[in-house]
Amino acid sequence: MKIDLSGKTILVTGASRGIGKATALALGKAGGRIAIHYNKNYDAAKALADDIQNGAQCFQADLAKPEQCQALFDEVIKAYHSIDVLINNAGIFFASPLDSENWLEEWNETINVNLRATAHLSRLALMPFQSQQQGIIINIASRAAFRGDNPEHLAYAASKAGMVALTKSIARAYGKDGITSFVVAPGWVETDMNKDTIATYGMDFITDSLALDDLTKPDDIAPMICLLASGMAKHATGTTIHINAGSYMH
Ligand SMILES: NC(=O)c1ccc[n+]([C@@H]2O[C@H](COP(=O)([O-])OP(=O)(O)OC[C@H]3O[C@@H](n4cnc5c(N)ncnc54)[C@H](OP(=O)(O)O)[C@@H]3O)[C@@H](O)[C@H]2O)c1
Repeated sequence: MKIDLSGKTILVTGASRGIGKATALALGKAGGRIAIHYNKNYDAAKALADDIQNGAQCFQADLAKPEQCQALFDEVIKAYHSIDVLINNAGIFFASPLDSENWLEEWNETINVNLRATAHLSRLALMPFQSQQQGIIINIASRAAFRGDNPEHLAYAASKAGMVALTKSIARAYGKDGITSFVVAPGWVETDMNKDTIATYGMDFITDSLALDDLTKPDDIAPMICLLASGMAKHATGTTIHINAGSYMH
Protein backbone atom coordinates (compact mmCIF):
# COMPACT_ATOMS: atom_id res chain seq x y z
CA MET A 1 0.00 0.00 0.00
CA LYS A 2 1.41 3.37 -1.05
CA ILE A 3 0.69 6.66 0.70
CA ASP A 4 -0.44 9.16 -1.92
CA LEU A 5 -1.09 12.70 -0.69
CA SER A 6 -1.50 14.29 -4.09
CA GLY A 7 -4.27 16.87 -4.10
CA LYS A 8 -3.93 17.49 -0.34
CA THR A 9 -2.79 20.83 1.03
CA ILE A 10 -1.03 20.44 4.35
CA LEU A 11 0.05 23.14 6.80
CA VAL A 12 3.01 22.05 8.95
CA THR A 13 3.99 24.42 11.76
CA GLY A 14 7.61 24.54 12.86
CA ALA A 15 8.75 22.99 9.58
CA SER A 16 12.09 24.77 9.41
CA ARG A 17 13.89 22.25 11.64
CA GLY A 18 13.73 18.88 13.36
CA ILE A 19 10.57 16.79 13.30
CA GLY A 20 8.61 19.40 11.34
CA LYS A 21 11.21 19.56 8.60
CA ALA A 22 11.43 15.77 8.20
CA THR A 23 7.63 15.58 8.24
CA ALA A 24 7.15 18.31 5.63
CA LEU A 25 9.71 16.62 3.38
CA ALA A 26 8.06 13.21 3.70
CA LEU A 27 4.58 14.66 3.13
CA GLY A 28 5.86 16.56 0.10
CA LYS A 29 7.60 13.50 -1.34
CA ALA A 30 4.28 11.65 -0.97
CA GLY A 31 2.68 14.28 -3.22
CA GLY A 32 1.28 16.77 -0.70
CA ARG A 33 1.26 20.52 -1.32
CA ILE A 34 3.04 21.83 1.76
CA ALA A 35 2.59 25.15 3.55
CA ILE A 36 5.88 25.42 5.44
CA HIS A 37 5.55 27.49 8.58
CA TYR A 38 8.66 28.90 10.28
CA ASN A 39 9.42 31.53 12.87
CA LYS A 40 13.07 32.66 12.70
CA ASN A 41 14.71 30.33 10.19
CA TYR A 42 13.66 31.64 6.78
CA ASP A 43 16.72 30.26 4.98
CA ALA A 44 16.02 26.71 6.20
CA ALA A 45 12.33 27.01 5.31
CA LYS A 46 13.14 28.34 1.84
CA ALA A 47 15.67 25.54 1.21
CA LEU A 48 13.02 23.02 2.22
CA ALA A 49 10.44 24.56 -0.12
CA ASP A 50 12.99 24.40 -2.97
CA ASP A 51 13.60 20.74 -2.16
CA ILE A 52 9.93 19.77 -1.93
CA GLN A 53 8.66 21.90 -4.85
CA ASN A 54 5.09 20.92 -5.85
CA GLY A 55 3.81 24.39 -4.85
CA ALA A 56 5.42 24.42 -1.40
CA GLN A 57 5.55 27.94 0.07
CA CYS A 58 6.95 29.44 3.29
CA PHE A 59 4.92 31.38 5.86
CA GLN A 60 6.39 33.23 8.85
CA ALA A 61 4.64 33.60 12.21
CA ASP A 62 5.57 33.86 15.86
CA LEU A 63 2.95 31.55 17.33
CA ALA A 64 3.34 33.12 20.77
CA LYS A 65 1.30 35.99 19.30
CA PRO A 66 -2.40 35.30 18.59
CA GLU A 67 -2.59 37.93 15.84
CA GLN A 68 0.22 36.11 14.01
CA CYS A 69 -1.63 32.78 14.28
CA GLN A 70 -4.60 34.43 12.59
CA ALA A 71 -2.38 36.07 9.96
CA LEU A 72 -0.63 32.75 9.26
CA PHE A 73 -3.90 30.96 8.67
CA ASP A 74 -5.25 33.79 6.50
CA GLU A 75 -2.09 33.84 4.36
CA VAL A 76 -2.14 30.08 3.85
CA ILE A 77 -5.80 30.19 2.79
CA LYS A 78 -5.05 33.13 0.49
CA ALA A 79 -2.26 31.14 -1.15
CA TYR A 80 -4.02 27.78 -1.45
CA HIS A 81 -7.77 28.58 -0.98
CA SER A 82 -8.23 25.71 1.47
CA ILE A 83 -6.30 23.19 3.51
CA ASP A 84 -6.95 19.51 4.10
CA VAL A 85 -4.56 18.73 6.95
CA LEU A 86 -3.21 20.84 9.83
CA ILE A 87 -0.13 19.61 11.67
CA ASN A 88 0.56 21.50 14.89
CA ASN A 89 4.22 20.68 15.39
CA ALA A 90 5.95 23.93 16.41
CA GLY A 91 6.94 23.83 20.04
CA ILE A 92 9.31 25.07 22.70
CA PHE A 93 11.00 23.26 25.57
CA PHE A 94 13.10 25.20 28.01
CA ALA A 95 13.97 24.94 31.68
CA SER A 96 11.97 27.01 34.16
CA PRO A 97 12.77 25.92 37.73
CA LEU A 98 10.44 26.76 40.60
CA ASP A 99 12.78 29.50 41.82
CA SER A 100 13.01 31.23 38.45
CA GLU A 101 12.33 34.96 38.81
CA ASN A 102 10.35 34.81 35.56
CA TRP A 103 8.45 31.61 36.31
CA LEU A 104 5.03 33.04 35.40
CA GLU A 105 6.21 34.60 32.13
CA GLU A 106 7.99 31.36 31.23
CA TRP A 107 4.87 29.33 32.05
CA ASN A 108 2.79 31.61 29.82
CA GLU A 109 5.26 31.47 26.93
CA THR A 110 5.31 27.68 26.89
CA ILE A 111 1.54 27.39 27.17
CA ASN A 112 1.03 30.06 24.51
CA VAL A 113 3.27 28.49 21.88
CA ASN A 114 2.59 24.82 22.58
CA LEU A 115 -1.08 24.84 23.55
CA ARG A 116 -2.81 28.14 22.83
CA ALA A 117 -1.46 28.38 19.28
CA THR A 118 -2.44 24.74 18.66
CA ALA A 119 -5.97 25.47 19.87
CA HIS A 120 -6.14 28.72 17.91
CA LEU A 121 -5.01 27.19 14.60
CA SER A 122 -7.30 24.20 15.20
CA ARG A 123 -10.25 26.53 15.74
CA LEU A 124 -9.44 28.41 12.54
CA ALA A 125 -9.17 25.12 10.62
CA LEU A 126 -12.27 23.50 12.08
CA MET A 127 -14.70 26.03 10.66
CA PRO A 128 -13.72 25.48 7.00
CA PHE A 129 -13.26 21.76 7.70
CA GLN A 130 -16.93 21.66 8.76
CA SER A 131 -17.96 23.35 5.51
CA GLN A 132 -15.77 20.95 3.51
CA GLN A 133 -17.04 17.99 5.58
CA GLN A 134 -13.46 16.77 5.79
CA GLY A 135 -10.20 17.64 7.49
CA ILE A 136 -7.44 16.14 9.63
CA ILE A 137 -5.65 17.69 12.60
CA ILE A 138 -2.44 16.07 13.87
CA ASN A 139 -0.95 17.43 17.07
CA ILE A 140 2.65 16.67 18.02
CA ALA A 141 2.56 16.34 21.80
CA SER A 142 5.11 14.42 23.88
CA ARG A 143 5.73 11.48 26.15
CA ALA A 144 5.76 14.14 28.88
CA ALA A 145 1.97 14.49 28.56
CA PHE A 146 1.61 10.93 29.89
CA ARG A 147 4.69 10.28 31.99
CA GLY A 148 5.15 13.83 33.31
CA ASP A 149 8.43 15.72 33.14
CA ASN A 150 11.05 17.03 35.55
CA PRO A 151 10.52 20.08 37.84
CA GLU A 152 12.15 22.41 35.29
CA HIS A 153 9.59 21.46 32.65
CA LEU A 154 6.22 21.53 34.43
CA ALA A 155 4.76 23.93 31.86
CA TYR A 156 6.00 21.80 28.98
CA ALA A 157 4.33 18.64 30.30
CA ALA A 158 1.12 20.53 31.09
CA SER A 159 1.04 22.13 27.64
CA LYS A 160 1.45 18.75 25.96
CA ALA A 161 -1.23 17.12 28.13
CA GLY A 162 -3.51 19.98 27.11
CA MET A 163 -2.84 19.15 23.46
CA VAL A 164 -3.92 15.55 24.09
CA ALA A 165 -7.21 16.63 25.70
CA LEU A 166 -7.81 19.12 22.90
CA THR A 167 -7.24 16.43 20.28
CA LYS A 168 -9.66 14.01 21.95
CA SER A 169 -12.30 16.72 22.25
CA ILE A 170 -11.99 17.60 18.57
CA ALA A 171 -12.22 13.92 17.61
CA ARG A 172 -15.36 13.46 19.72
CA ALA A 173 -17.06 16.65 18.62
CA TYR A 174 -16.41 16.76 14.89
CA GLY A 175 -16.17 13.15 13.70
CA LYS A 176 -19.66 13.33 12.19
CA ASP A 177 -18.47 16.33 10.16
CA GLY A 178 -15.82 14.12 8.55
CA ILE A 179 -13.07 15.58 10.73
CA THR A 180 -10.48 13.41 12.47
CA SER A 181 -7.77 14.32 14.95
CA PHE A 182 -4.69 12.50 16.24
CA VAL A 183 -1.78 12.91 18.65
CA VAL A 184 1.75 11.81 17.93
CA ALA A 185 3.72 11.65 21.19
CA PRO A 186 7.47 11.37 20.69
CA GLY A 187 9.97 10.59 23.43
CA TRP A 188 13.56 11.77 23.01
CA VAL A 189 14.24 12.75 19.38
CA GLU A 190 17.59 13.87 18.05
CA THR A 191 16.87 17.53 17.22
CA ASP A 192 18.04 20.98 18.30
CA MET A 193 15.52 20.76 21.15
CA ASN A 194 17.72 18.20 22.91
CA LYS A 195 21.18 19.35 22.01
CA ASP A 196 21.72 21.02 25.42
CA THR A 197 20.58 17.87 27.25
CA ILE A 198 22.87 15.69 25.14
CA ALA A 199 25.77 18.12 25.64
CA THR A 200 25.22 18.23 29.41
CA TYR A 201 24.39 14.61 30.22
CA GLY A 202 25.77 12.73 27.20
CA MET A 203 24.08 10.43 24.73
CA ASP A 204 24.30 7.41 27.07
CA PHE A 205 22.03 9.20 29.56
CA ILE A 206 19.30 9.09 26.92
CA THR A 207 19.96 5.77 25.22
CA ASP A 208 20.17 3.94 28.56
CA SER A 209 16.49 4.81 29.08
CA LEU A 210 15.39 3.31 25.75
CA ALA A 211 14.29 -0.22 24.88
CA LEU A 212 15.97 0.23 21.48
CA ASP A 213 19.66 0.91 21.10
CA ASP A 214 19.53 4.13 19.11
CA LEU A 215 18.01 7.53 19.66
CA THR A 216 14.88 8.30 17.63
CA LYS A 217 15.50 10.56 14.61
CA PRO A 218 12.98 12.90 12.97
CA ASP A 219 12.79 10.44 10.07
CA ASP A 220 11.46 7.83 12.53
CA ILE A 221 8.49 10.10 13.30
CA ALA A 222 7.61 11.41 9.83
CA PRO A 223 6.22 8.18 8.25
CA MET A 224 3.58 7.81 10.97
CA ILE A 225 2.45 11.40 10.41
CA CYS A 226 2.20 10.68 6.67
CA LEU A 227 -0.02 7.69 7.39
CA LEU A 228 -2.30 9.76 9.66
CA ALA A 229 -2.41 12.58 7.07
CA SER A 230 -3.45 10.13 4.35
CA GLY A 231 -6.83 9.46 5.97
CA MET A 232 -6.16 5.72 6.07
CA ALA A 233 -6.15 5.75 9.88
CA LYS A 234 -9.54 7.49 10.09
CA HIS A 235 -11.02 4.98 12.55
CA ALA A 236 -8.21 5.62 15.02
CA THR A 237 -9.46 9.19 15.49
CA GLY A 238 -8.77 10.62 18.94
CA THR A 239 -5.91 8.27 19.56
CA THR A 240 -2.27 8.88 20.48
CA ILE A 241 0.56 7.18 18.63
CA HIS A 242 3.55 6.86 20.98
CA ILE A 243 6.95 6.94 19.26
CA ASN A 244 9.53 6.81 22.03
CA ALA A 245 11.85 3.86 21.29
CA GLY A 246 10.15 1.93 24.08
CA SER A 247 11.25 4.35 26.80
CA TYR A 248 7.71 4.69 28.16
CA MET A 249 4.99 2.21 27.30
CA HIS A 250 1.66 3.80 28.04
N1 LIG B 1 12.84 16.62 20.10
C1 LIG B 1 12.24 15.90 21.03
O1 LIG B 1 12.88 15.14 21.79
C2 LIG B 1 10.75 15.98 21.22
C3 LIG B 1 10.14 15.08 22.11
C4 LIG B 1 8.77 15.13 22.30
C5 LIG B 1 8.02 16.06 21.63
N2 LIG B 1 8.62 16.92 20.76
C6 LIG B 1 7.77 17.92 20.10
O2 LIG B 1 7.93 17.84 18.70
C7 LIG B 1 7.76 19.13 18.14
C8 LIG B 1 8.96 19.45 17.25
O3 LIG B 1 10.12 19.38 18.08
P1 LIG B 1 11.60 19.47 17.47
O4 LIG B 1 12.47 18.71 18.40
O5 LIG B 1 11.59 19.17 16.03
O6 LIG B 1 11.90 21.03 17.71
P2 LIG B 1 13.06 21.99 17.17
O7 LIG B 1 14.03 21.25 16.36
O8 LIG B 1 13.50 22.77 18.35
O9 LIG B 1 12.24 22.96 16.19
C9 LIG B 1 11.23 23.77 16.72
C10 LIG B 1 10.38 24.35 15.60
O10 LIG B 1 9.35 25.15 16.19
C11 LIG B 1 9.43 26.48 15.69
N3 LIG B 1 9.13 27.45 16.74
C12 LIG B 1 9.76 27.58 17.94
N4 LIG B 1 9.23 28.62 18.63
C13 LIG B 1 8.27 29.15 17.82
C14 LIG B 1 7.39 30.26 17.96
N5 LIG B 1 7.38 31.08 19.03
N6 LIG B 1 6.53 30.51 16.94
C15 LIG B 1 6.54 29.73 15.85
N7 LIG B 1 7.34 28.69 15.66
C16 LIG B 1 8.21 28.41 16.64
C17 LIG B 1 10.86 26.65 15.16
O11 LIG B 1 10.87 27.63 14.13
P3 LIG B 1 12.21 28.46 13.68
O12 LIG B 1 13.35 27.49 13.67
O13 LIG B 1 11.89 28.97 12.31
O14 LIG B 1 12.38 29.58 14.66
C18 LIG B 1 11.18 25.24 14.66
O15 LIG B 1 10.69 25.06 13.35
C19 LIG B 1 7.59 20.10 19.31
O16 LIG B 1 6.23 20.38 19.51
C20 LIG B 1 8.15 19.32 20.48
O17 LIG B 1 7.60 19.72 21.72
C21 LIG B 1 9.97 16.91 20.54
